[in-house]
Amino acid sequence: MEAFSAAQIIAAKRDHHSLTDAQIDWVIDAYTRGAVADEQMSALLMAILLNGMDLREISRWTDAMINSGQRMNWSGLSRPTVDKHSTGGVGDKITLPLAPLVAACGGAVPQLSGRGLGHTGGTLDKLESIPGWRASLSNEEMLAVLEECGAVICAAGAGLAPADKKLYALRDVTATVEAIPLIASSIMSKKIAEGTSALVLDVKTGVGAFMSDPKKAAELAHVMVGLGQRAGVKTIALVTAMDIPLGLTAGNALEVGESIEVLQGGGPADVVELTVLLAREMLELVGIKDADPARALKNGKAMDIWRRMITAQGGDPDAKLPAAKERLTINAHSSGTVLTMDAMKVGIAAWHLGAGRSRQGEAVQAGAGIEIHAKPGDLISHGAALFTLHTDTPEAFERAQESLTDSVKIGGLSAGSAIDRLPLIIERITD
Ligand code: URA
Repeated sequence: MEAFSAAQIIAAKRDHHSLTDAQIDWVIDAYTRGAVADEQMSALLMAILLNGMDLREISRWTDAMINSGQRMNWSGLSRPTVDKHSTGGVGDKITLPLAPLVAACGGAVPQLSGRGLGHTGGTLDKLESIPGWRASLSNEEMLAVLEECGAVICAAGAGLAPADKKLYALRDVTATVEAIPLIASSIMSKKIAEGTSALVLDVKTGVGAFMSDPKKAAELAHVMVGLGQRAGVKTIALVTAMDIPLGLTAGNALEVGESIEVLQGGGPADVVELTVLLAREMLELVGIKDADPARALKNGKAMDIWRRMITAQGGDPDAKLPAAKERLTINAHSSGTVLTMDAMKVGIAAWHLGAGRSRQGEAVQAGAGIEIHAKPGDLISHGAALFTLHTDTPEAFERAQESLTDSVKIGGLSAGSAIDRLPLIIERITD
């Protein structure tokens, strides 16, 4: 005999009532073990999307998802654990240089990452373009890499927040991804279960992010920071720009290549700036005050950790990265200053080229994606290369080019006026 009926809980949320702790605990547990059907949970998710949840409900929903699986424990490590989570964007490869950088400065980064879905890339897809690199590690292997290198990036095992895995797949096909209580609890249940002692959230906003409105992004950030702090994880959030792509590449191996440039002390200014800034925030949260992340990027210390981390997971840091079989250059249609670049259009074009997937489990092309030759603020001449498209499937060029239609505006910048774009860092949220 079950303690509650799913229909009563759905009706309560439909009628704008708060769910009790016991109702939330039961519905998450019953759904995870199959006693609540997908169609019932779909109705409840839609009621939550439409009618919302208060902070107590969100916190309890998060705890129930954490309790559906195991919680990792790194208390045996000699260094403090600290992680970063980005809500995802186009060209967002920051985790790749950031994890070894923070490790080089004395933190331990236990980063459980995901694969990409839709127009945003996934960290694991990017790293899997490195020949030999393995995303799946046992808990013992994860601990060994973390102890040896100070950072590990790998796939979350099936035992971590299994309720979220089922719920996320259901939300994806029932148009219920975009609810703040559901996004916040989904992200934070995994990060809290991962066992990190501190967390910096990079909440993206702008056309290329799934919270395009900065106010909504800040609201999501506040809820997530509250959830982290209530669970005893030192948490802060930065709301950052995703109106234009980050860096000069979007696509798996292309982004690994750009991350290696950053680890070699070069790379695009926006990627370097955000990497160093996030590293400073992470180190500050765990009380490491004497480290200089900008120096650790320049002097090769972060690169040393990267090489060890890739090698420890079976990868060859010296192997040539895979390249796509075909390339197509798109040239500027006029001369002037690049005024805008639509991150969403660039992300969708990279996805059409084979860098992303439309269904879970689909393979991605390691070499597919887009190189960007000029960003907003840069001068460009008529006929000069603006984008290079990369793919193994040249029939994809047409759809990718269609997606890029009107993605860039080139024109004259009148005296005294500035490029109309979001600042890289929009807001810092600490409670
Ligand atoms: N990422 C997650 O893990 N969950 C969401 O709901 C959205 C983004």
